[in-house]
Amino acid sequence: MDKMRIRGGKPLRGSIAVSGAKNAALPLMTASLLTDETLTLSNLPHLVDISTLANLLSQHGVTISMDGQANGGHTGNVLSLTAGRIVSTTAPYDLVRKMRASVLVLGPLLARERQARVSLPGGCAIGSRPVDLHIKGLQAMGARIELSEGYIEAEAPQGLHGAEIVFPFVSVGATENLLMAACLARGETRLVNAAREPEVTDLARCLVAMGADIQGIGDETMVVRGVDRLHGAHHAVIPDRIETGTYVMATAITGGDVELLGAELEHLSAAVSVLEGAGVEITATNRGVRVRRANGRLTGVDVMTEPFPGFPTDLQAQMMALMTTADGASMITETIFENRYMHVPELRRMGASINLHGSSAMVRGVPALRGAPVMATDLRASVSLVIAGLAAEGETVVNRIYHLDRGYERLEEKLAACGADIERIKEDA
Ligand code: EPZ
Repeated sequence: MDKMRIRGGKPLRGSIAVSGAKNAALPLMTASLLTDETLTLSNLPHLVDISTLANLLSQHGVTISMDGQANGGHTGNVLSLTAGRIVSTTAPYDLVRKMRASVLVLGPLLARERQARVSLPGGCAIGSRPVDLHIKGLQAMGARIELSEGYIEAEAPQGLHGAEIVFPFVSVGATENLLMAACLARGETRLVNAAREPEVTDLARCLVAMGADIQGIGDETMVVRGVDRLHGAHHAVIPDRIETGTYVMATAITGGDVELLGAELEHLSAAVSVLEGAGVEITATNRGVRVRRANGRLTGVDVMTEPFPGFPTDLQAQMMALMTTADGASMITETIFENRYMHVPELRRMGASINLHGSSAMVRGVPALRGAPVMATDLRASVSLVIAGLAAEGETVVNRIYHLDRGYERLEEKLAACGADIERIKEDA
């Protein structure tokens, strides 16, 4: 398994191109199941998770072709997905267990084929992550659903119908699954307390380009009037706000000065105000966003993760790494996932002072971190260790970096181009 070796202490300077958003790209790819025409997605990041989903979609019968460069100035991969005929409505365990987002094929398959059999995703490193809201929502739309032998077995012989679905709490994936299903359901569906994450909004915009009738995009309530069929479309994936935030923190912890090309601040406003409070200077440029550390050390600030437009859980680990060397204390509270503190013991091994009290972590800034061998079992926890390693004295080796490859495109290249001393160590087996 590959490792990442980092020798810390070099301020990042230069520019980094932000990739297309993984968490927007994945649901967008599953939307291709809703039409027999071609959906072309540009600005897709080149990531293991994208290939995993492409494999799943092709076994459902989607033909996928890839083109290196998009028209219209977009960078990144271009993928054309055509679900002319669905050849299988089963999403098997072996593919779903690799990536939970695979459950997003459930709504589209059921809406189009009136049946679907999708492996239940298991728990994962950050929590138990049930999919009950996806299931209850589809049941409200007329689906009969049974759980059998580890699979969600769903059918709607008369097709799905509209319904009022009130989410008891915000779920990104359930909103996406039900939004896609509602596009082809009979009548009107109201999604109340829907997720408003930019990735959900991006999906809704693409669905509208495919012929869907959706009102209230970006609001707490979305109203979908079902249509008989959707058609093909071209859609450019939004820039990755979590990748952007990650590089903001990497720049800030090293006292660097980096321009993040293509980044969009409006998707990150909660994080930006917290970071500015800590002493990070963030300004919009005509090419993206410039990040610098104002003067001297950062100051500890308190952070609580919340659904959008609040501070994203996907930046919690990176923020904690940043706070380890800030002046004073920082209270970080995770409200979305019950177990998203895998990075805490590893950051402690690098000299951080962090105490966990239930869902909150008290970080007391130390003068410096020290390099150490570390590892983590999820994507954002892993990248927080890279951020800590960039600032630490001496050498940090991050093990099990396949998590990083799931969600960060060319991480070490982007960082090295800004002066980081970072390299991937390839290891057989
Ligand atoms: C999405 O996961 C993202 N994944 C996650 O990104 C992100 O952390 C999360 O949203 C929150 O923003 C993708 O977009 C592919 P949820 P998702 O449904 O949709 C509970 C990353 O690092 N819940 O909004 O699975 C759930 O357990 C990742 O890129 C239920 O109880 O998240 C969690 O506590 C990891 N029942 C909370 O809701 C349900 O039916 C929010 O989960 C659904 C969710």
